[in-house]
Amino acid sequence: MTARPSVHQAATADELLARLRVHGAVPRHVAIIMDGNGRWARERLLPRPLGHRSGMKAVRDVVEGALAAGVEYLSLFAFSQENWQRPATEVGALMSLLEEYIAREVDELREQGVRVRVLGDLARLTPPAARAVERVVGETAGNSRLTLNLFISYGSRAELVRAVRAIAADVAAGTLAPDEIDDATIAQRLYTADCPDPDLLIRTSGELRISNFLLWQIAYTELFISPVLWPDFGRRELFEAIVAYQSRDRRFGRVTV
Ligand code: IPE
Ligand code: IPE
Ligand code: MG
Repeated sequence: MTARPSVHQAATADELLARLRVHGAVPRHVAIIMDGNGRWARERLLPRPLGHRSGMKAVRDVVEGALAAGVEYLSLFAFSQENWQRPATEVGALMSLLEEYIAREVDELREQGVRVRVLGDLARLTPPAARAVERVVGETAGNSRLTLNLFISYGSRAELVRAVRAIAADVAAGTLAPDEIDDATIAQRLYTADCPDPDLLIRTSGELRISNFLLWQIAYTELFISPVLWPDFGRRELFEAIVAYQSRDRRFGRVTV
């Protein structure tokens, strides 16, 4: 039995970009769980860190694709809180790659109008990685064409626990009454406070799970699972996901006939 070809299989990145521009609304906020670097390396009998290195090139291509498509917010899950439990050599390689990515890309990101933010428990980063983060955030703070949220040392439950503690502290201090707490009270205390919720969440490598990413924020986000391993993902695959998103009917619980 042959696999059913994807509708857009033959389309090039430029054709898909032209199509998504005609189709209509581009998602304002695209979030991506960048998964599959290890499997990409294993398929080539390479060590896992080389998969991560290849994944860095995919980040560059996808950022350029997001700029070309007119996406306003791009959220990339780069390293989860649970990923700290990986072998020290792999964690070390990922921290070094973060520094390398920033050193290589900071000028171009700044020139392209990208504002970079790094969201997560940054106290756990190695000092050189923390310095690199501070640099890219500082040097791109004045930009507004695309906000690139890099989630590093991030876990959604930990983010929610942090928000609950902040709310409890306000209640204990008498500055917030329990019956004043609503959706916004919580949303404002998340790392994503000033971002709209993602319109589209892409996970690469075919895994059908969320892995503790943006649990609160994705309540009504459209999901797109790509079979492509992250190092092979690029602007073409991003455009394909956006074209698919544009054919969805977002009902938010209502009836839209
Ligand atoms: C994603 O690739 C990158 C990180 C989670 C840091 P993986 O390293 O999870 O790759 P697989 O899932 O083992 O293929
Ligand atoms: C999710 O991928 C985290 C990132 C992409 C950074 P994982 O590879 O860590 O997720 P699981 O372990 O397969 O759920
Ligand atoms: Mg994985």
